Amino acid sequence: MPFSNNTLTGRMEHAYYPIRELFPVAEEIKKTGAEIYNASIGDPVPYLGTAKYVTKAYCKALKEGKVSYSRSPGDFEFLDEIAKRYKRMYNLDIESSKIFVTQGLSEAVTFLTESLIDKGKGAVLFNPYYPTYAPTIKLFGGTVVLSSLNEENGWAPSKDDLEEKIRKAKSDGVDLRFILIINPNNPTGSMCSRKDLQDVVEVAKNNDLLIISDEIYDQIILVKEKMTCIGEVAKGVPHVIMNGLSKNWAGTGFRVGWVAIPEDDEASGNLREGLGNLVTMRLSASTPAQIAGIEALRNVKAHNRFLKYMVKNIRERAEFMQKRLNEIQGVSCQKVKGAFYLFPRIDLSRTNFKNDKDFCTELLRREHVWVTRGSGFGLDSHLRSTALPPVEILEKVAQGIENLMRC
Ligand SMILES: Cc1ncc(COP(=O)(O)O)c(C=O)c1O
Repeated sequence: MPFSNNTLTGRMEHAYYPIRELFPVAEEIKKTGAEIYNASIGDPVPYLGTAKYVTKAYCKALKEGKVSYSRSPGDFEFLDEIAKRYKRMYNLDIESSKIFVTQGLSEAVTFLTESLIDKGKGAVLFNPYYPTYAPTIKLFGGTVVLSSLNEENGWAPSKDDLEEKIRKAKSDGVDLRFILIINPNNPTGSMCSRKDLQDVVEVAKNNDLLIISDEIYDQIILVKEKMTCIGEVAKGVPHVIMNGLSKNWAGTGFRVGWVAIPEDDEASGNLREGLGNLVTMRLSASTPAQIAGIEALRNVKAHNRFLKYMVKNIRERAEFMQKRLNEIQGVSCQKVKGAFYLFPRIDLSRTNFKNDKDFCTELLRREHVWVTRGSGFGLDSHLRSTALPPVEILEKVAQGIENLMRC
């Protein structure tokens, strides 16, 4: 077919990322010189900066001319530091040869989905979910099966609902491959208890499904509860752990992530082989960013200092915003336990808006407040606000929402 007739494949209808959809509206407003109160993008760097010890290591690598390709699966020293981190934090023994460095966790998502999903296959996501996952599964022709998180129960997964959705998908003929967990969670700011995770592991085991755990916020914990890594409760059950420098190290622009496939069963081995081939096709992840990553993980003292500062600020902002949102008539927001997001429910029946997309677009146009619609994460009548901007800005965000709830 000539190029001019039909340039894109059918799958491109799924290439969509709702978090960035209001950029054109925001840019229009910015051109008028007006200020925008932005709580839409989960990037900690503009608000909290990146730890100096990490950026210094990056600059040093550049000065020393360390900008060649590196090993496709990742720099040996960096992989070793990642393995040591799992031992130190969770007492897990993961051989570094079972870990792959990726260009952000996002690339790990693409590689895993590419390896596991095609037409007729599917995966289970908990709803709401981080919006990269559903479109990626669909891009590869797969079916997305949604199991609802329980809002009233602090967004905990429901074992019954999970079992029911899997049973239904199987009876519809979907060849399910994995269950995805995001813990701590974007967009809800919740964190799974050990028991919640044990339940998911049990369901995965009973249904012969892989568990993939996105733990990119595993050190941004705002409460006294302890974070459980999936590896602690899934020994002997095939699982994958993903993480990266973007959030815990406030290093979004380094574009460094990793994926560990620790188990010794044959299917986990096949998956490692598949990933091993895919990483060679894109040659390597950034070399200077991996060198910065070595220092980021090795210098635990400096990291802990940075984390303390980052978590303290996020906690104050999240607590402020949660209280402020709950004061608004028609808005209710669960407690934030980890990451840096709030996901309030908005009672649209009190307003003239028919859905949260219209609400968010008007919020930006009229109040210059920029948050993301819940439906972009799979659940209408919700908003996602970050807890990253300073309290003065968050107050403007809450005030804008309050004003619009009266429309
Ligand atoms: C849950 C979750 N996973 C993955 C990512 C993307 O990570 P990366 O920057 O490492 O690609 C994000 C970014 O917001 C996220 O919230």
